[in-house]
Amino acid sequence: MIRLLFFLLIFLFGCNNSQPKKIVAAVVSAKKEASEIGIKIIEKGGNAFDAMIATDLALAVCYPSAGNIGGGGFMIYRTSDGQVGTLDYREKAPEKSNKDMFLDSDGNVIKGKSTIGGLSVGVPGTIAGLFEVHKRFGSLPFETLIEPAIQLARKGYVPTKNQLKNIELYKDLFVSINGKKTLFASNLKEGDRIINEALAKTLEVIKENGKDGFYKGEIAKHIVNNIKESGGILNINDLNNYTPKWRTPIYFKYKDLDIYSMGPPSSGGICLAQILSMIEPYNLNQYPQNSIKAIQLLVEAQRRSYSDRSKFLGDSDYNNVPIDYLINKYYLKNRMKSFSWEKASISESINPGDISTFESEETTHYSIVDNYGNAVGVTTTLNSSFGSKLFVEQGGFFLNNQMDDFSIKIGQPNLYGLIGGDVNSVQPNKRMLSSMTPTIVEKDGKLSLVLGTPGGSTIITSVLQTILNIYEYGMPVQKAVNSPRFHHQWFPDNIVFEPNAFGEKLIKDLKRMGYKIDPSKNKILGRVDAIYINQDNLLTAAADPRGDDNAQYLRE
Ligand code: DON
Repeated sequence: MIRLLFFLLIFLFGCNNSQPKKIVAAVVSAKKEASEIGIKIIEKGGNAFDAMIATDLALAVCYPSAGNIGGGGFMIYRTSDGQVGTLDYREKAPEKSNKDMFLDSDGNVIKGKSTIGGLSVGVPGTIAGLFEVHKRFGSLPFETLIEPAIQLARKGYVPTKNQLKNIELYKDLFVSINGKKTLFASNLKEGDRIINEALAKTLEVIKENGKDGFYKGEIAKHIVNNIKESGGILNINDLNNYTPKWRTPIYFKYKDLDIYSMGPPSSGGICLAQILSMIEPYNLNQYPQNSIKAIQLLVEAQRRSYSDRSKFLGDSDYNNVPIDYLINKYYLKNRMKSFSWEKASISESINPGDISTFESEETTHYSIVDNYGNAVGVTTTLNSSFGSKLFVEQGGFFLNNQMDDFSIKIGQPNLYGLIGGDVNSVQPNKRMLSSMTPTIVEKDGKLSLVLGTPGGSTIITSVLQTILNIYEYGMPVQKAVNSPRFHHQWFPDNIVFEPNAFGEKLIKDLKRMGYKIDPSKNKILGRVDAIYINQDNLLTAAADPRGDDNAQYLRE
């Protein structure tokens, strides 16, 4: 009898092990702690939107260089019944801003004013964005969603080696802006925990008072005072009046795919649509991935799209952005008429279409699919690493330096070397142009891919190449994410390659054809976090190995 029971147990155990459980939900983000918090919310019965709120707040704690409550972002979603939409919780210019606020009396750009300290701060949108998501789609109480982040701030987290290096890199700047006692200037050794009690308290105030806890009252006063002391102009009205906006996504077809992405004030969706439409007639998959012809085709399409970006794209609430025209297939076919396989185009000779310095960069993207079939992709940022470096000590968080995403002077490149036009000049309450590209792909009318990445101007081309790797080159999602990338953005006229990933002969051949390549500008491009859903509804999440990114799953 005992022997029988023993064999029965072995049999049952064996059955359990041999049948891997089906993945029914996934969260993939820049940090393990945040992905775990997100998936736990789904385990509790929450949906992808609930998990989005919890993951976002967790990133604000354990990924302070980009995760934030002092910045902003964009969310794309697809509900289980196929509705797709986007939420814009991008920062906006303070009401006292003006076009020339970063120029001296001779009209020259004052170095650092749009990137460091008080004047570089745009009105933060994150907390208003999260409450807006909760109001429309949340299923668990907000208190439940914010609590894990409060605990994480209070108990602390152990920063990764990459994070320690990054904090070290900016330490002097933190001290010069915030004083010696500032939290992130404390001496951290490997294995130490970062405990942020001030942030735990801030999150508790938000838990109790809703978004007013951030945009009104003590925290708002601290934000305004810190910014004022650092030479900024953001005032209490700016905080009181901030509102996120639901926006229609950019929608286009590429071959048999339906693609949805972020529209203005992001350039991401329009540029992605332009580049894909420009290359569509050439049937890319006849040229091997990252071969000379594939690179030529993509570079030339990118060159033309970023040129249009510079002239036509900005906040569509303030300008007429001719979206339909810019993503029209006929217009885009014409844009490629000057493309030749023989020789590189020269950016100086590519003008925006006729329709009549790098510092360390940090943004973060996460993707979520829940067991109900809802999908969410969010890209959120302080702009560069730790934003303005201005730390609201009493509140425990950094403020963004998103003002640099405006064209602070026409023709003057921003942090990412991007040149913008008048359409993106500073105006009170206007949103600065972004490149963030949270994107959803449908195949045969079904959810197929959720993805996005950090990387400033290179966001668009990293998202682009990941999509192409999957649908043109048939790669599994993780391989598509890992695969080496390159980037061109019109100006500077240079192809940026990921280091040590492209052969010398290929580079030589491209140079011979007139392509400009400066190896000193090569760098890691993006950290794509994606979830792919195959025809049998099986989920695979891909965390980019370029960072500390991590995927967590719920299994049935
Ligand atoms: O909105 C934008 O396009 C930029 N502020 C994003 C910055 C960024 O991606 C930095 N990251 N690596």
